[in-house]
Amino acid sequence: MSSIYAHRGQPRHRHREKKSSHKPLPYRAASSTQPPSPSSLQATAASESLFQKQPSSTAPQPVDQLFRARWLGLFGAGAAALCLGTFTASFWIANSGEAPQYVTSREPVVPTGRPAIESPVEFDQHLDRSEWRFGITKLRRRLAAEATGHVLEVAMGTGRNMEFYDWDAVTTEYVSAGERNRSKLAKTGWGTKENLADLLEMESFTGVDISTAMLDIGLRRLRQVVPHGAMEDVLPKQPSFEQLARSEAGSGVQLLRGKVRIVQGDAQSPLPAPPKGVDKYDTVIQTFGLCSVRDPTLLIHNMAAVVKPETGRIILLEHGRSWWDLVNGLLDRSAKGHFERFGCWWNRDIEGIVEVAKSRIPGLEVVEFQRPGWATLGTHVWVELRIRDAKPKGGRDTGADESSNGWLGSAPLVHLG
Ligand SMILES: C[S@@+](CC[C@H](N)C(=O)[O-])C[C@H]1O[C@@H](n2cnc3c(N)ncnc32)[C@H](O)[C@@H]1O
Repeated sequence: MSSIYAHRGQPRHRHREKKSSHKPLPYRAASSTQPPSPSSLQATAASESLFQKQPSSTAPQPVDQLFRARWLGLFGAGAAALCLGTFTASFWIANSGEAPQYVTSREPVVPTGRPAIESPVEFDQHLDRSEWRFGITKLRRRLAAEATGHVLEVAMGTGRNMEFYDWDAVTTEYVSAGERNRSKLAKTGWGTKENLADLLEMESFTGVDISTAMLDIGLRRLRQVVPHGAMEDVLPKQPSFEQLARSEAGSGVQLLRGKVRIVQGDAQSPLPAPPKGVDKYDTVIQTFGLCSVRDPTLLIHNMAAVVKPETGRIILLEHGRSWWDLVNGLLDRSAKGHFERFGCWWNRDIEGIVEVAKSRIPGLEVVEFQRPGWATLGTHVWVELRIRDAKPKGGRDTGADESSNGWLGSAPLVHLG
């Protein structure tokens, strides 16, 4: 008996008794004048604890009491049900009826041939907000880490990959020999001479886009992200591509003695040749460009024409159709509006485009095809391609056509640094 009272004297129990004195429980036995026997006390304690765990198991609480005690939970459940209902209804309405079918390169508005993005500033700010959330920033960083040797970025837009590139080799003359050595050693994990010889860095950068308005923002970003103030002397704070290039279509701007080149032109024409003395690019990068040009297969063909066979890589980060029909239905329905705002067809079948390119471009091989991240519902793809060198075996060309000399073979460039 003493042990039972000792238990009842503990704070947790005291609190329970205090509470119950305010709200008499409907099933509680009437109090007896007789002192309780040990067995009846045990039974009471057991039934109280049972009641505490399941208050409504024997008799219902009045609704107002129940509501007062549970209003937060009830409110939350109601709000969740409302959200779910609204989402399901809008999803159902959006997906009822036939989705418009656009055939790649025959969409109602031809993307290429005009700067399709109405407001490059709006485009850029919109992406600032959403890319981190959906894991795109992380993918851009991963992609830039693969950009080594002589790099070409096609449809570079406002230069959203530029802050992630390794500019050290391009800007060597802006740092002391000691600083440069330390940075190289750090990259190799303070390794041996052999490690240093194997170190891959970006040796030159060439960026191409059809839109000078996008390139204006790209140049501004370049000034901000290239380290050691290397661009500050050669680019004004608010650069205008057209003013800097000051020449006919197809020309570009060269910076840091040709190690950085920004070029305006249609990537469906042969692409710029690599810097003087270099035969082909080591890395060709392209993010969210296959969705933006009229003929994405031609674009892949042009990239294949300028990349080094075997060791060179074409790396694409794209968005398009998902695994799920439900998601594709939504993409189809909103595709035209999205194109008008952002200049890209986000419902294209990128996997299908890569397959077609593979079947048409001799030597083109898919090294990697991934749908990274869950947040984008399978709409984003990472593709790594290479060109197998068919020449030594069969004596036939690889598809890298003779016209790969590109615009820079003939077009004049303005040298700014
Ligand atoms: C959706 S944006 C992507 C921009 C950038 N690559 C990025 O990741 O933010 C597509 C870009 O492709 C460019 N573009 C569209 N058609 C092109 C073409 N035929 N040649 C070169 N660039 C083109 C647009 O001007 C735009 O900058």
